[in-house]
Amino acid sequence: MRRAIFPGSFDPLTNGHLDIIRRSAPLFDEMIVAVLNNADKRPMFSVDERCAIIREVLPAVTTGDCRMLVESFSGLTADFARERQATAIVRGIRAVSDYEYELRMALMNRRLEPQIETVFLMAGEEYSYVSSTLMKQVFELGGRVAGLIPELVESKMRDKLNP
Ligand code: PNS
Repeated sequence: MRRAIFPGSFDPLTNGHLDIIRRSAPLFDEMIVAVLNNADKRPMFSVDERCAIIREVLPAVTTGDCRMLVESFSGLTADFARERQATAIVRGIRAVSDYEYELRMALMNRRLEPQIETVFLMAGEEYSYVSSTLMKQVFELGGRVAGLIPELVESKMRDKLNP
């Protein structure tokens, strides 16, 4: 049984995340989208809202025979991966600028849990500039983000801005 976790903040989920999920699913039997409960940051969406959005959007993503789960976690990614008996941590790389940060995290996670490998996947070129932070910023300032985030996310962001 090859189980992976795909950890992140997912605040909010973008089409770049979905691209990584679609690309990595064929490599594993089960993948847990692991949503960090980052209480210290001030997220746009609560961790429960982020999990609910991902659960609602995931069925539309082609993941083949890979069983998809969505869970929140607190603390270290390496601990969560070990507790779930995952053999891999999936991370997406968009551009060279991601590499240094990702390398440091991967090496630290490997030091913490030597038996768990970080697997990097290259995001599709069309998402190479897409980040949750940029999407929130552009959306909040009235810019178009259609095609870069799921429609559900866009409508939930609209609800947040105009409650
Ligand atoms: O989507 P993000 O914000 O790039 O995800 C970053 C994340 C959640 C993978 C990273 O911040 C993380 O692993 N946080 C949990 C705490 C932890 O394990 N820190 C040490 C990483 S070596």
